[in-house]
Amino acid sequence: MLVLGIETTCDETAAAVVERQRDGRARILSNIVRSQISEHARFGGVVPEIAARAHVDLLDGIVGQAMKEANVGFAQLSAVAAAAGPGLIGGVIVGLTTAKAIAMVHDTPLIAVNHLEAHALTPRLTCALAFPYCLFLASGGHTQIVAVVGVGNYVRLGTTVDDAMGEAFDKVAKMMSLPYPGGPEVERAAARGDAKRFAFPRPMLGRPDANFSLSGLKTAVRNEANRMMPLEPEDVDDLCAGFQAAVLESTADRLSVGLRLFHERFGQPRALVAAGGVAANHAIRGALQNVAARAQTTLIIPPPELCTDNGAMIAWAGAERMALGLTDTMDAPPRARWLL
Ligand code: KG4
Ligand code: ZN
Repeated sequence: MLVLGIETTCDETAAAVVERQRDGRARILSNIVRSQISEHARFGGVVPEIAARAHVDLLDGIVGQAMKEANVGFAQLSAVAAAAGPGLIGGVIVGLTTAKAIAMVHDTPLIAVNHLEAHALTPRLTCALAFPYCLFLASGGHTQIVAVVGVGNYVRLGTTVDDAMGEAFDKVAKMMSLPYPGGPEVERAAARGDAKRFAFPRPMLGRPDANFSLSGLKTAVRNEANRMMPLEPEDVDDLCAGFQAAVLESTADRLSVGLRLFHERFGQPRALVAAGGVAANHAIRGALQNVAARAQTTLIIPPPELCTDNGAMIAWAGAERMALGLTDTMDAPPRARWLL
């Protein structure tokens, strides 16, 4: 089964061709991602209108490149999958409409994929992982703990009540005039800093639910930074170190609760899987390793290029749905919001 996947929900224009073999294993034949970071950097964040226009300009070329690299013709495709949300609606419309046009012209089934479902199924693209497993998804737009029970069977165990984790990293970076995207910059500064200099709050620590909250911590960092203006490089390092330490402790606590809730409802998870841009953070990876060990499960973090937004995960989610006969019609709507 050959599936073309299209991703345009945020600031990556991406397309990929993935093959699902008879034994259920995957082969990525191409995976082209064009990041728009340079278009958005001078605004300090993603500008939806600029993103949508860039998707219009780039997508045809990216799809063509993905097909060419995979050495596949449109007539050979078993399905065309596009992320139909959640995300910035202008971009979602561009990707979904393009997929519909290809599907219509080549008389190929369409699959409207939930972008979060694609993140959730990504580990099965890279290894033979069985259900059920526990997903920790932390990106610029989402922070969730999800029980992945089967294809189309997802139970949200925890979510953020305010900011997404990547968003909090980006906002803290912006406060300190570090460039966008801020996550990697904060990680680098934190590695140099003293995490004990500032006593920042550990949000939600000890709460019986598995939810996250990051805006109070972000405000505490802002207040401290404002009090000390102008900041010396050492202050920036220490503030970032203090912030990251608080995020780590809170994340470890929230995930331990999430894994306990998982265990009560679904038994032992086959793995703890991390995805989303924040999973690239080495300190967070270390914390997740400890959490998984304590819960006697394995930690799986897909390679960075599959953790962040890409077309292969959309194609793979499409293939998993197609294998169950789950296709969509031409009136599948683009969705800004779409819960798993
Ligand atoms: O998954 P992703 O590439 O895009 C979406 O948001 O969908 O995630 C990007 C987010 C940004 O907020 C970025 O600052 C954050 O992930 N991020 C990091 C790191 N690398 C990327 N956050 C913390 N530490 C990092 N090393
Ligand atoms: Zn994403």
